[in-house]
Parts: sequence; C-alpha cells; structure tokens
Amino acid sequence: MMKFTFKKSIFALTAVCALLLSACGTGTNNDGSDKKKVLNVGTEATFAPFEFMDKGEMTGFDVDLLNALAKEAGYEVKMENTGWDAMFAGLQSEQLDIGIAGITMDEDRKKTYDFSSPYFESISMIVFKEGTDIQNAEDLKGKKVGVQNGTTGQFSAEAVVGKNSSDISKYETAALMFQALQSKNVEAVVTDIAVALEYEKNNPDSGVQTAVDENQFKSEYYGIAFPKGSELRDEFDQALVTLFENGKYEEIYKKWFNNEEPNIEALQN
Ligand code: ARG
Repeated sequence: MMKFTFKKSIFALTAVCALLLSACGTGTNNDGSDKKKVLNVGTEATFAPFEFMDKGEMTGFDVDLLNALAKEAGYEVKMENTGWDAMFAGLQSEQLDIGIAGITMDEDRKKTYDFSSPYFESISMIVFKEGTDIQNAEDLKGKKVGVQNGTTGQFSAEAVVGKNSSDISKYETAALMFQALQSKNVEAVVTDIAVALEYEKNNPDSGVQTAVDENQFKSEYYGIAFPKGSELRDEFDQALVTLFENGKYEEIYKKWFNNEEPNIEALQN
C-alpha cells in the first residue's frame, strides 16, 4: 500500500514536471521529445497563384514560402483551407498561429493582427469580359461589379462606386467571384493583380481582359498575419531576411512568376 502511493506520487510528480517543462520550452512537444512544434496555419485556397488546390493538394507561392520560412525557423506547419473570414477569426481566438493568404497589410488589419515584413507587392486590377467598355476604374460606375468579401478588391471597388452600392456583389471566395464573371452575374471583378493575370493566363478561351488604374488604385503589400503579440513574428521576419539573402525567396518567386526576378529591395524599403 505504502509502496503504491509512493509510486503514484512519483508518477504524479514526473507528470507535473513534464507539463511544466513543455509549457516553458518553446520548441518542445508535450511528449518531451524535441520534435518540431507544429503551427496551425489558415488560408483561403482559391487564390492562384498564391494558394489553391491542385489535385487535392494545397499549393502556390504562399505555400512554398511558408514552408521554407517554417523550415528556416525550425517549425512544422499544418495548413488548412479555413476560408477568409474563419482565418481572421482563428487568429483572433489564437486557434491559428499564422494566416497566409495574400493578405494585404492595411491600417485596419494592423490594429487587430501582427504582420511580418512585406513579402509581396500588389495593386487592385479589374477583370472583365471582352466587349465590356472598361478602360479605367471610373468605368466601373454603373456596372455590376464582383469582389471577394472583405478584401482590398472590395475596398478598391467601393472607393469608386460608393460603399454599400447595390452594384457590388460580394462573394465568399475568389473562385466564386470569378464564376460570377463567367456566368455574367457581374460585368467586372476587382482583385489582386497577380491573381487577375493568373486567371487570364489559365482561362485563355474565356475572353477576359484586364485593366489597371494606378491613379485610382494604390500599391499594397502582403504580410503573414499572427495573433497580436505572437512571438513567431520576429522569428519569421528573421527567416524571411535569410530567404531574401540566400536565394530561396528568388527561387520560389521565379517558380510561380514566369521566371521573373523579384524586386527584393523594393520590399525592404
Ligand atoms: N490582398 C487582398 C486582401 O488582403 C485579397 C486577398 C485574398 N486572399 C485569398 N486567399 N482569397 O484583401
């Protein structure tokens, strides 16, 4: 009896110690091994070439970049196609460690989330069916415009046609937005330039055209999102500098953008 209790308390003590240790050690798992910590990552994977599903696998520029960053920083990642709104909710409730989805760092989002340094420059672009009279942003007025809900594409369109305009239709995913264009439920969509160009390239027979308007739309920068106060931010920023310097960022960029050279300096200014 005595022996049993003693054993039990040793067991309890060991368990408490293990718990304490795992709570303190950042890179250590609950089982005490130094297997890498797994980070939960959310995204909205209908946004080629940044994140999209290909034969059931999530792939894209953001996916490659995040994997390379995590490797550099010593983490494993579990990426999930949470959807756009759920990704932000998951970051806020800290159920997610990271959000990566071509997320533009705007002043509003910066209030709620922490962001990495910029890793991509973008601007809004208009995509429309051939034969629609659109030269610039002004021409969106009076037309039916589709956007992905809660994205800078929406904000760009609203800045032209007015907030809450009934001419703007908001879709849950980027894919649904493009479908609305194809099925002629809208006459134009406003989305990020690289996504617009990728769509045009991947749908050569669909007769779509694109227009930019640098007077109306402004440059925006993508960042990786973290819950406010996350310690991961600095680690991932350091890893990003390493990938900028060791050629890995360039390799990933070229893979997804027609072998073009990235302008890393512009991102670092
Ligand atoms: N860059 C834009 C924004 O932050 C659109 C991002 C949409 N991303 C996506 N994976 N659907 O608002």
